[in-house]
Amino acid sequence: MSVLKITGGRSLSGSVRVQGAKNGALPLLAASVLTEGISVFRNCPALSDVQATVQILRHVGCRVYREGDALWVDASGPIRPEVPDALMRSLRSSVIFLSALLSRCGEVSLALPGGCELGPRPVDLHVLALRALGAEVTEAGGRICCRAAGLRGGRIDLPAVSVGATENAILGAVRAEGSTVITGAAREPEIVDLQAYLRSAGALVSGAGSSVIRVRGVEKLRGADHRILSDRIAAATILAAAASAGGSVRLYDADPACLGPVLQVLRNMGCRLENAGNVVTLSRKEPLRAPGSVITRPYPGFPTDAQPPIMAAALRAEGTTVMIETIFENRFSHVPELLRMGADIRTSGKTAVIRGVERLRGAEVSAADLRGGAALVVAALAAEGETRIHGLRYMDRGYEDLALTLRELGAEAERIG
Ligand code: UD1
Repeated sequence: MSVLKITGGRSLSGSVRVQGAKNGALPLLAASVLTEGISVFRNCPALSDVQATVQILRHVGCRVYREGDALWVDASGPIRPEVPDALMRSLRSSVIFLSALLSRCGEVSLALPGGCELGPRPVDLHVLALRALGAEVTEAGGRICCRAAGLRGGRIDLPAVSVGATENAILGAVRAEGSTVITGAAREPEIVDLQAYLRSAGALVSGAGSSVIRVRGVEKLRGADHRILSDRIAAATILAAAASAGGSVRLYDADPACLGPVLQVLRNMGCRLENAGNVVTLSRKEPLRAPGSVITRPYPGFPTDAQPPIMAAALRAEGTTVMIETIFENRFSHVPELLRMGADIRTSGKTAVIRGVERLRGAEVSAADLRGGAALVVAALAAEGETRIHGLRYMDRGYEDLALTLRELGAEAERIG
């Protein structure tokens, strides 16, 4: 089993490029099934979740190959609406294949998706969207079966904000007969990026980035050439690491417009931040201050995925930080591990209260989910001595060669095994 060994106490300095967005890549790759052509996705990150999605694409009949950071998907041949259960369960966003395969094939039966354990992750909103488009949906024995002789446009009123359900709703609507209006849509930048790709493929969709999305169905889509947006959570993680360890880092290919609340929290902690175009610079010379309350919200609020790494950065900040997680029920799996490193955190339901400590110490710790693992890295960089982080398979889902990125910034980090 691989382990990430980090010897803390070194400040970070230097420049690194931000990878393409995991949460952008996965729905884009699912969307490519809707086209009857060849799509190219540039800036596609090399991640295990992307690899699993490629396996799904190949299984349903697409030809896929990589050339540098570009992934080519040829969906022009016949497509079969089947995905092995193990692949479906290997990641949460496999659920986005529901509407893509249903739209392309007229029926689909898939095992319920897996992904990180963040508490219950129901699919009722996905089902609601597909039913609103005229699909017959049944759920039994851990499977969802959908059938529709032809999807037809309709009104999809989402009662709660869901990124994945919004993506499924859009993908179901783009080739449906007639027009669709989606209300209560999630506004994440990854949805705007999905819309941009679909438009270059010939879809008539507008409004992404707002809570009302309009789609006019078209008969066919063509392949398109698309550059995947920058990963705002990977950017937030590196910024949290630099805040935690101190020093000065420069991120290239970042999108500061998508990072607003994260940058604000880091500023409140005493970091100096500058943006110029797609470059973000963070420097932290003075001791950190607690940022006060941080509440996770759907975009454009503070992202739930940035909660664990920012919490880790706050462990040594002077004062008390209150973090309230409103999106997922079980998103504090990193807390017991941070306690082993000497943190002072108390959790109760959705709230974690962090009291700044003077020092953290290296320990043997395990990641239990992707962003929780990132939190352990951020804490390890500021801890005295050596930390050995297990559970790297979670981090491999979302971070391209994290140890190398950290070394490029001067950290002592090594992946063993
Ligand atoms: C996406 C992101 C994930 C991020 C999350 C919230 C991808 C691949 N993943 O996940 O990194 O943490 O957005 O920003 O883009 N819900 C329901 N019923 C549903 C669907 C969701 O109740 O049918 C609930 C969820 O349990 C959760 C909340 O809605 O409490 C938000 O989930 P959602 O936005 O759907 O997250 P994902 O799309 O799975």
